Amino acid sequence: DIFADRRNSAGIDLSDPAVREPLMARLKNLENIHWRAEPTFPGDTPGEIAPITMPHDLSAVVGTRRDATAEEVDDAFARAARIQPGWDALGGERRALLLEEAADLFEAHTDEFLSLCQREAGKTLLDAVLELREAVDFLRYYAQGARNQFGAPTILPGPTGEENSLSLHGRGVFATISPWNFPLAIFTGMAAAALAAGNAVIAKPAEQTPLIAALAVKLCHEAGIPPEALQLLPGAGQVGQLITANPLLAGVAFTGSTETAQAINRTLAGRDGPIATLIAETGGQNAMIVDSSALPEQVVRDVLASAFQSAGQRCSALRVLYLQDDIADAMLAMIRGGFEALNIGDPASLATDVGPVIDPDAQARLERHVARCLASDRKVTRLPLPPGVEAGCFVAPTIVEIGSIRDLSREHFGPVLHVARFKASQLEQVIEDINASGYGLTLGLHSRIAATRRFVQARARVGNFYVNRNQIGAVVESQPFGGEGLSGTGPKAGGPHYLARFATERVMTIDT
Ligand code: SER
Repeated sequence: DIFADRRNSAGIDLSDPAVREPLMARLKNLENIHWRAEPTFPGDTPGEIAPITMPHDLSAVVGTRRDATAEEVDDAFARAARIQPGWDALGGERRALLLEEAADLFEAHTDEFLSLCQREAGKTLLDAVLELREAVDFLRYYAQGARNQFGAPTILPGPTGEENSLSLHGRGVFATISPWNFPLAIFTGMAAAALAAGNAVIAKPAEQTPLIAALAVKLCHEAGIPPEALQLLPGAGQVGQLITANPLLAGVAFTGSTETAQAINRTLAGRDGPIATLIAETGGQNAMIVDSSALPEQVVRDVLASAFQSAGQRCSALRVLYLQDDIADAMLAMIRGGFEALNIGDPASLATDVGPVIDPDAQARLERHVARCLASDRKVTRLPLPPGVEAGCFVAPTIVEIGSIRDLSREHFGPVLHVARFKASQLEQVIEDINASGYGLTLGLHSRIAATRRFVQARARVGNFYVNRNQIGAVVESQPFGGEGLSGTGPKAGGPHYLARFATERVMTIDT
């Protein structure tokens, strides 16, 4: 049994009213808390203060972010560099126990995390539950990796009279720069991996979602991870720039836009100090191909989930649906039927399928894209927004018909699905066009024909290829996640090779 020593967490069964109803009542009681995020070791002169508001109601303040100052960034690096050798020397087993303790504390604080996912990031309850599960699974999975890969050295062959061994160690001070779309899971996953590998971590959460990160860090400290080994530095882009320019930095794990990853890469290349590792997980221009052998009901379900769950704000989300022309009209009519049944609104309501986008900037970018589509005479279908959502950042779910993926020059990160048609004879061209986008994150295929599946798999340059299902929600260990090209550097999060990239290898040779 390969799962003998670890299993992914069970989550919460929201279909059971005996579980769901008390949970919703408890979440209601947490609505009055004012949360705070500030640097782990605050300096004497405090940095700027920013209110954090709910994406679905900008008039509601969830808490306060205190930005790290330049002095606090320098001080954090100095503390991290001092503690790192000891943290590394602790060994994989002891670090694993601390990360597992943190996982238990995360589960014990389920209500607070779910409340923050909803209020700070605008997540539906289902998405919030999935997010917490993923965070807990990352902690336990990387703990297991620490134990297995960072324990006893690996003995290597050599002639008689010589002993060779290989051991893995932390690289030094690692920065994690994380996104708002998985403000808990990705924040926790990157920090846990860097810690598991023996690094000290400077963690900068997205400026929109520092509060849930602050709770995660607090619980890691309660679990026994030394505060110097995991330090929170909240702030906007300037704080990120100070972090990536610091000469003590040994590596960065980043998840976010391709443009920001490229900017970080340039900063790392231009500074003094160690040649830093960059692990980047970035955007996508994710397609799904549906041929005439697909099962229509299944396609409808999987298209709607892939494009509109989490308001389309997953890096894995479906952006371009390719329908084979002889089934396209019928399939699109069915998809529109399901689409029209989507409920938009307050993420606190269980009836909501599509919540808000993260902030007014995201909302304005998406609206500009839809306006351009309308201006260029594309066929655009939008759902009406329900009354009462004016105070939030809601974007009406939208379907736009386009000629091919080549019509899109960039990723549109929200509830906008583009639909193109293809002839069976053009399948190879479709895959070439998808590859030509330069991105390579997820690809979906609905086809009952094994030869088609093999054909697509052999040609598509993507990290995660999903057949006859939706293309979101990669599961830790089962579907290691991450792309190639403009979509990222690898290695895959939640996969067997991830921790090694956070580590440096040392070989000892003893002449006996
Ligand atoms: N890991 C997430 C997913 O698979 C990333 O968006 O959906």
